[in-house]
Amino acid sequence: MPETRLDIDRIRAARRMIDPVFLDTPLYRCDALDPALGCAVSIKLETANPVRSFKARGTELIAGLLAGDGAGAVVCASAGNLGQALAWSGRGRGLDVTVVAPRSAPAAKLDRIRALDARLELVDGDFDLARERAAAVARYEGIRLIEDSQDIETCEGAATIGLELVGAVPTFDAVLIALGGGALATGVGHVVKALAPEVEVICVQPLGAPAMTHSWRQRRVVTTGSTDTIADGVAARRPIPAVLDDLLLVADDAVLVQESSIMAGMRMLLDHAGLVVEPSAALGVAAILEDRDRFAGRHVVTIVCGGNVDMDAYHRWVGVAPDHTP
Ligand SMILES: Cc1ncc(COP(=O)(O)O)c(C=O)c1O
Repeated sequence: MPETRLDIDRIRAARRMIDPVFLDTPLYRCDALDPALGCAVSIKLETANPVRSFKARGTELIAGLLAGDGAGAVVCASAGNLGQALAWSGRGRGLDVTVVAPRSAPAAKLDRIRALDARLELVDGDFDLARERAAAVARYEGIRLIEDSQDIETCEGAATIGLELVGAVPTFDAVLIALGGGALATGVGHVVKALAPEVEVICVQPLGAPAMTHSWRQRRVVTTGSTDTIADGVAARRPIPAVLDDLLLVADDAVLVQESSIMAGMRMLLDHAGLVVEPSAALGVAAILEDRDRFAGRHVVTIVCGGNVDMDAYHRWVGVAPDHTP
């Protein structure tokens, strides 16, 4: 058992707090992708739910606990998906939700946060600036701050995906996980290393947002000055020390991919799987494209973790993506 902040029994218990609409998502062999990628690919589909990302697994847990404690108001920083998920989970439980997000976040994400009745505050800066502002709002207003990846419930919620993966037949050789703040990778990674340690846990980040990958490789927190990637969901600059400690225990590798590969991955998921995904959800396919030899002949699961994307940008990206079909 890896000695992370997570615990299998708590993760199993978490399932009971999460609306079933977010659980037991499709996991299937997508053999139409195999010829182009040179390996057996399975998809874990986290986009077919009311918020179109996995983040509600964690916010369901948080909102359930807070509502039980009688808390009335919460604030979080978000690149868009956590905020949307918290708004969804909070609305059903009478929580007042404030989301602080970058003004540059995809309109599709910001519009949904508003539509779900959350108060949305925009900052002229990136996700890490939004984190500072959310902490300030929590202090001034005396309300609970939700910190993605730092708050253990965000990791435990994501970890329920891991339970669904390790319970699957047939088994698989590697899982590719988009890496941002690290809730998804530490959560899924903990379960995989605890219950199926032979499976390789590979985290994937864009070259343009490499802070956590650099930190994992150097075994210390490395911050970066700015990010430059279309994968807005994983564009963070300041890794959280406790999350890095956990990641060091559960990840076998962390790789960086180019923007052109992310676009090609989005295009392949559209062409061969019929899936419209946001850039962060194509990181796994991008990693296979950049290192086919590593995956050749193996069975690889990629978590398709979000589908909130502005359509104009999407068409631009998949339109310019190179055709990788051999
Ligand atoms: C679609 C998508 N993929 C991946 C991530 C990264 O997850 P984490 O921050 O848990 O590492 C996020 C984060 O919000 C996301 O929205």
